[in-house]
Amino acid sequence: MTKYFVIGNPIKHSLSPRLHNYWLKQNNINAVYQKIKLEENEIENFISKIKNQEINGCNVTVPFKKTVIPFLDKLSLEAEQTQSVNTISFHNGNLVGHNTDIGGFQKAINNLNYNIKDKKILILGAGGVVPSIIFALNKMEVSKIIVTNRTYKKAENLKSQFNKINIVNWGEVPDFDMIINATSLGLNNETINLNTSDIGDGKLFYDVIYNPSETNFLKEGKKLGNQTENGKFMFIYQAFEAFKLWHDIEPSVNNEVLNLLDND
Ligand code: ATR
Repeated sequence: MTKYFVIGNPIKHSLSPRLHNYWLKQNNINAVYQKIKLEENEIENFISKIKNQEINGCNVTVPFKKTVIPFLDKLSLEAEQTQSVNTISFHNGNLVGHNTDIGGFQKAINNLNYNIKDKKILILGAGGVVPSIIFALNKMEVSKIIVTNRTYKKAENLKSQFNKINIVNWGEVPDFDMIINATSLGLNNETINLNTSDIGDGKLFYDVIYNPSETNFLKEGKKLGNQTENGKFMFIYQAFEAFKLWHDIEPSVNNEVLNLLDND
């Protein structure tokens, strides 16, 4: 039986095993997918087990998406440019790092039937997932990307990777078409102190968080008359892309899959 894992710390709340085990079963693949909490000093040894194929592949989540890079042989273009790896595969004797968060975000937006081309995007946050979102937004040819983060310096650091982004102070709300909450605010029902008085309607509010399914950020967006969407499809499609890389099969995304992630 082949073995796959998701590694991270903390890892208790990861729903990746639910998705992958469902798809493995559905496709009659004799494999199992488990979550495992690792400390930083255990990463190298864990990855060596993929190299010797004791383990067949893994997903990587917070806080190790960058930590794993020195232990890999190759990176996909996306992983290289974002310095973020969420999927490791073994190919022709090489350990390859991929970033399927990018494809996941892109597919989630395409799924919305929202015409993102030439739109102005405001991103709240500058944490681990933001380089992947910026990379995807650039691919989708948005007209402007503005980043705001509580710690200004972290937003500014993104400029070395993405020189065309604009940075504004935390608390400022410049004109935008789509606003993305990429902070962790909302996971525990916190509210983001946004000055919403000039926002109005006709925008897209997107939250990377999907549990709870409607954060206060999305509630506020909806109250103002805007379209809202949570991060559920982004999560599903990053897993979809990883599954495709490992098994060469496009798994189905149906209501049953959506229900697997209902924790509310
Ligand atoms: P990391 O920053 O370690 O990559 P993350 O979960 O990927 O962790 O990112 C957390 C994001 O939520 C960051 O943008 C963080 O802002 P800081 O860079 O200033 O820490 C943001 N965040 C978390 N708590 C916040 C709070 N109370 N107010 C505003 N932003 C917050």
